[in-house]
Amino acid sequence: MLKEVQHNEEKMTLQERDKKHLWHPLKQHQTHPNSIGIVKAKGCILIDEYGNEYIDAISSWYTCIFGHCNDFITSRVYDQMQRLDQIMFSDFTHEPAVKLSEELIKILPKNQNRIFFNDNGSTAVEAGIKMALQYYFNKAEKRTTFIAFEESFHGDTFGAMSVSGLSVYNGPFEDFLIDIHRIPVPNGENNNVILEQLKEINSTQKVAGFIYEPLVQGAAGMKMHKAEDLDVVLQFCKENNILTIADEVMTGFGKTGNLFASDEIATKPDIICLSKALTAGLVPMSITSCTEEIYSAFLSNDIAKGFFHCHTYAANPIACRAALASIELLQSKEIQESIQFITEANKTFAEHMQQHPKVTSVRTKGIILAIDLQTNAQRYGTLRDKLLKTFMDKGVFLRPLGNTIYIQPPYIISKQQLEKVYKTIEEALEIV
Ligand SMILES: Cc1ncc(COP(=O)(O)O)c(C=O)c1O
Repeated sequence: MLKEVQHNEEKMTLQERDKKHLWHPLKQHQTHPNSIGIVKAKGCILIDEYGNEYIDAISSWYTCIFGHCNDFITSRVYDQMQRLDQIMFSDFTHEPAVKLSEELIKILPKNQNRIFFNDNGSTAVEAGIKMALQYYFNKAEKRTTFIAFEESFHGDTFGAMSVSGLSVYNGPFEDFLIDIHRIPVPNGENNNVILEQLKEINSTQKVAGFIYEPLVQGAAGMKMHKAEDLDVVLQFCKENNILTIADEVMTGFGKTGNLFASDEIATKPDIICLSKALTAGLVPMSITSCTEEIYSAFLSNDIAKGFFHCHTYAANPIACRAALASIELLQSKEIQESIQFITEANKTFAEHMQQHPKVTSVRTKGIILAIDLQTNAQRYGTLRDKLLKTFMDKGVFLRPLGNTIYIQPPYIISKQQLEKVYKTIEEALEIV
């Protein structure tokens, strides 16, 4: 009997077997039952179970910044696997975690001095929110409210959902979320209106923190804002002791042209959330960094004033080694030049696409390029599905956010591959 089951499974495709037991994230299985079976990935190329090849033009959700199965990263990780695989981090420490903290502190904004480990973007944000709340609790000052931008996205755990603005993710849970005030993203023209709104919120509420995606709001459709406008909000927060939390889960590690988006903004955050490209897409890990001042508020003879937040795999040595290798590679001349090359190529393509009759707006920031389409179609309607299929048929993996097409290519993408991505986008506009 067992043999027969195995035999049948061998005859079925991955796609068919997948449907028997699996439940995928961000998917309505009734209308979208199929998932593409990927069997191999190397560099920028994904290969499916039928041998079709696709350029991964969004670095698998912004993680694989040096492409897939990068030899430099995998060899460092393999080496670590022979030495120390996993050790709990509450009573122990180890070289990869210590070294990673040293290397990160060297490159993070100067006011950051403490590194706290989690295991994904949402939990990095969750820890950041809890740090801000407990910072004030430990100082016997109860602050219970947060401020966040409209259309922000910070993850799927309860705290992260609370500060996120996208209702397709949060709808069923709205009654259970923490208290939050939403403000529009500043665009130069509305800065004073926002300042008035902030004053109003601050005069009536006890605000613990302001959380934001610096410069680029990813899930909102790669919406971009200027550093100087964001700085107006951050300055207000600083002046009013509202802790600032930069969610750099998407923007961190070179995406916006600098190592971190916060590098471009005058007022530095008190807390920073990092994940995704942190380990170059090899294994899950995240970090919440903070200033020494925040950390000091948790020091006490009272055990309850410590930060009692922990994930079993926190500071996993293999993940730390992947992150160390990634940071080393990121700072190499070759990768910095590639980032520059993609940035310039994006700008040229953006100028070209700006003229397209089916395009309403084009934005670029570093290696990120976003194109809004002129359409009457619903934001998450059939157009998105049609585009996705068209891209895949042409051998490029792009995942439109509603009616916004965007790219975030691996930094190692070749000129030819990037040109193919651009050409595919232009050709796909025929179906809009
Ligand atoms: C800015 C931002 N914060 C947080 C998250 C959540 O990260 P994760 O999916 O690893 O929980 C994401 C995910 O896309 C993100 O873009």
